[in-house]
Amino acid sequence: MSLFAFGDDDLAGLAARHGTPAFVYSAAVARAGLQRLRAALPDRVRLAYAVKANPHPELLRLFADLGASFDCASEGELRRVADLAPGRVFFAGPGKRTAELALALEQGVRVQAEGWEDLERLDALARAPVAVNLRVHPAAGVAESNRIIGGVGPSAFGVDEEALPEVLPRAAALAHVRVRGLHVFAASNERDAAKLLATHRMVLDLGRRLTQEHGLTLEQIDLGGGLGVPYAPDEAPLDAGALGRGLGDLLREHAWFQGELILEPGRFLAAPCGVYLARVVRTKESRGARFAILEGGVNHLLRPLLTGQAFPVRAVGRDGSTASTTLAGPLCTSLDRLGTVDLPDLRPGDLLAFGTAGAYGFTEGMTHFLSHPVPPEVWVA
Ligand SMILES: Cc1ncc(COP(=O)(O)O)c(C=O)c1O
Repeated sequence: MSLFAFGDDDLAGLAARHGTPAFVYSAAVARAGLQRLRAALPDRVRLAYAVKANPHPELLRLFADLGASFDCASEGELRRVADLAPGRVFFAGPGKRTAELALALEQGVRVQAEGWEDLERLDALARAPVAVNLRVHPAAGVAESNRIIGGVGPSAFGVDEEALPEVLPRAAALAHVRVRGLHVFAASNERDAAKLLATHRMVLDLGRRLTQEHGLTLEQIDLGGGLGVPYAPDEAPLDAGALGRGLGDLLREHAWFQGELILEPGRFLAAPCGVYLARVVRTKESRGARFAILEGGVNHLLRPLLTGQAFPVRAVGRDGSTASTTLAGPLCTSLDRLGTVDLPDLRPGDLLAFGTAGAYGFTEGMTHFLSHPVPPEVWVA
């Protein structure tokens, strides 16, 4: 599986036509990725693309046309998908403003309540019965411990599992709001299907317990996102087939649950279709280290700074022997580094391609910092 959505000739052509730095997205790769995942999953698993990964309008339109639902986390995201997929939208997020909750109600969006305050405010806004999902912060089994989800410690997300005996009876007494689903998001960039399934099993067990102990009727169990992608050639891709088979087994084991499971992958569906292109502005040696200074850096690809993980990179149309090179961006800070990697001897004007850059790229960047030009996003249909 290539980490780059385009071959070198195409990338050189796109860079020449649209200028650099730029993000380029392949519709073909995005389409194939969604279709492959859909085919691997049981019918009773709904796919809701997490818009935050990449909200490019053409990508959203493509996924909507292929039948996807959408996971949104802001008014802006809700508005982006409102006309594309009416009735197929979820609204999550730990800090929903009251105006956003009102918009979600108006649009018939299924809200993932993050706590008692969301339930209470929704109830005050609603004029008719409204079904919501309740996000739970589990006490154990979270398959991610550091940066994105935050492990099992204190969390801004969801209702702590141990607080449910207090929150659920209060929720049951509300006039309009009905808890009809659970939402647990407990993994991030996980490529091991077995680990994802272990978390999903924990969520279904929790659902069974809450059904038995609190008389909940669960129409939906939302398992969140977190399906991982490789960022390096030696990383194995997630086995979507194994994930699908495992979810099928879980549905059979949990026959008490006749509703639908929801998966909200963002990265898995968007990352592979994107490449970030930037040219080398200058090179330098400094005290034994080789630097290439590029047109763009963490202002466009913030992820290496946030997570310490680099994007895969190659020098387009260049091969030959390689040497360790530190890739610096144009910002006036030593934080602006896209990684230290083995690359051929670079020259000013050389084109670098960063693969797997379709998710958490353009809109996660700091495109206004230092007033550099905002890179175009090119959709290759
Ligand atoms: C509620 C929710 N769902 C889905 C996702 C998508 O996660 P990923 O891109 O890891 O699949 C996120 C990411 O933050 C999220 O907050």
